Amino acid sequence: MNSLQNLKEEALLCKKCKLHTTRNQVVFGEGNPNAQLMFIGEGPGRQEDLSGRPFIGKAGELLTRLIERAMGFSREDVYIANITKCRPTVDLKFEKDRAPDKEEVEACSPYLLNQIEIIQPKVIVTLGNPSTRFILNTNEGITSMRGKWSKYKEIPVMPTYHPSYILRNGGDSSNAQKQMWSDMLQVLEKLGKNPKVNIKWK
Ligand code: URA
Ligand code: SF4
Repeated sequence: MNSLQNLKEEALLCKKCKLHTTRNQVVFGEGNPNAQLMFIGEGPGRQEDLSGRPFIGKAGELLTRLIERAMGFSREDVYIANITKCRPTVDLKFEKDRAPDKEEVEACSPYLLNQIEIIQPKVIVTLGNPSTRFILNTNEGITSMRGKWSKYKEIPVMPTYHPSYILRNGGDSSNAQKQMWSDMLQVLEKLGKNPKVNIKWK
């Protein structure tokens, strides 16, 4: 059994923070254990909590289109994870998603850092403010961080918008989406991979 599997088994039983009281499923993350490219989101939403899989709701569909139709990878080629493995909701009442709080990030982030340690991706893409701020240890906002290379340990990190932000700001063909795509072009270049031409995310 590899160490990613061991880590997953530990996380599936985890009760280190209050989110365990309201979760349906722990969403550990999924993809290629030897992935060159790793995406990091915030925390599971409703669909993810019900299924145990990351990024499979509306935001996940956008991310999947980006990975598959535009970048030319499959979801199985890359690795997709979140800062927290259980779903954070407002008042823990399952009404509305929220970003993980400080306590939850502190409790859960060792799983993510171990995932990075084991997978050793060539590039990390942080999606939105919480994962960018956590991985890069900064208070800067995503608008100023996106599109510029940073590093986590020795691993190049490209911060970009969270797919939910794209959905809230015009979706397909919006300026935000174009910016996200230009960030991903830099990622493809770093990985030595040609982008698909005439990309359509829809
Ligand atoms: N948003 C995230 O940040 N992660 C998911 O897995 C789903 C939605
Ligand atoms: Fe454990 Fe993370 Fe779930 Fe909290 S969010 S219970 S730390 S797996």
